[in-house]
Amino acid sequence: MNTTINYFHESKLSAEPIVMVTAYDFTMAALAEAAGIGALLVGDSLGMVVQGKASTLSVTLDEIIYHTGMVVRGAPGSFVLADMPFMSYQVSVEAALEACGRVMKEALAQGVKLEGGAVICPQIKALVGTGIPVMGHIGLQPQSVHLYGGFGKRGKTQKERELLLRSARLVEEAGAFALVLENISHALAEEITAAVRIPTIGIGAGPACSGQIQVFHDLLGLQPDYQPRHSKRYAAIGESIITALNSYAADVRQGQFLSK
Ligand code: KIV
Repeated sequence: MNTTINYFHESKLSAEPIVMVTAYDFTMAALAEAAGIGALLVGDSLGMVVQGKASTLSVTLDEIIYHTGMVVRGAPGSFVLADMPFMSYQVSVEAALEACGRVMKEALAQGVKLEGGAVICPQIKALVGTGIPVMGHIGLQPQSVHLYGGFGKRGKTQKERELLLRSARLVEEAGAFALVLENISHALAEEITAAVRIPTIGIGAGPACSGQIQVFHDLLGLQPDYQPRHSKRYAAIGESIITALNSYAADVRQGQFLSK
């Protein structure tokens, strides 16, 4: 079955939790689709988990287009969103239209995700007006890591909680079809989820969100030494890979690879 934007539109009425996972290449996307997860995000988290960088800031538009193309080919029945990289959409409405237009035309994404509140609402309005579905993203915005001084929880003060609630309403009004809430308290996520009509997708925001998104590597233990607090590991694939590669290496070294 093909997943479309209607999966998000219908979720609040049906109260069925939305399931999302990130994917960065053809194989990951095909595996996620085979597992029945039809809503995929090509996150700029690829800067950290694929490229090994300390933040997402240096990810380029060309890299997002490259990875999104692979994901679209791997999961042809899925709804694939591209995460717009830092400074590809903030500068102006025109820049956002041009960058998101490239992602839709060249990678065949079905929508985009933008980090930010009031400041990027003109971009959201213009994109939606042009026919490009936009997912919002507030709370911890990893592209603002240097402004925050780290990746810690957001919404710790009453002032910031009010700002986040206002941002959620503005992003909805601007036309976003869904909203990521990253690393905020469960209580605030619950309040925001009740305050907006669009579904909220949580990561480190608790169970009251309309759905959840997780980074592929975190769910599967692809990085054996790294486990973020907000995640849950469903497999230890990293360790399985190391064991398998050890066995292969031992076979080759002992002259047993492909020998009778
Ligand atoms: O870049 C990313 O992977 C994300 C999500 C985890 C929400 O923005």
